[in-house]
Amino acid sequence: MYKVEDCKIVNLPKIHNDAGNITVLENNKNIPFDIKRIYYLYDVPMGADRGGHGHYALQQYVVAASGSFTFVLDDGVNKREFFLNDPSKALHIQPGIWREIKGFSSGSICFVLASQKYNESDYIRDYVEYLKYKNDTPII
Ligand code: TYD
Repeated sequence: MYKVEDCKIVNLPKIHNDAGNITVLENNKNIPFDIKRIYYLYDVPMGADRGGHGHYALQQYVVAASGSFTFVLDDGVNKREFFLNDPSKALHIQPGIWREIKGFSSGSICFVLASQKYNESDYIRDYVEYLKYKNDTPII
């Protein structure tokens, strides 16, 4: 069972030249899980909050591909905020972590690499249920 301390900002490789930057992510090279799904959030209205759930098994790399937003991670004991605004950095979210996403800047794009295909039964959408799951599962 992971804690928010286990969720970290990771520096991604950046190929830079006068015409700009490229960041390349490849399975089995610079990602600690097999990428099974990619999705992105965009056109998020000002003031909208997203997230509000945990996952039993899903791991994610989250990148601010454009603009900025804040992830609030919560392990049922501690909370940690991550402000993302740099496409060359990813937030690695470990399994079993509750997340809220807020403060989307206009035009921001939240790009997510996920370790599993979409599976609604991997979600915990009720915070009380999440706390119960955490309390019933020993923290490593
Ligand atoms: P959700 O993960 O709750 O969004 P967020 O955490 O960004 O607020 O997903 C929103 C809706 O989209 C929900 O009805 C499930 C659906 N969805 C899929 O069908 N497939 C996916 O891969 C994702 C991420 C969401």
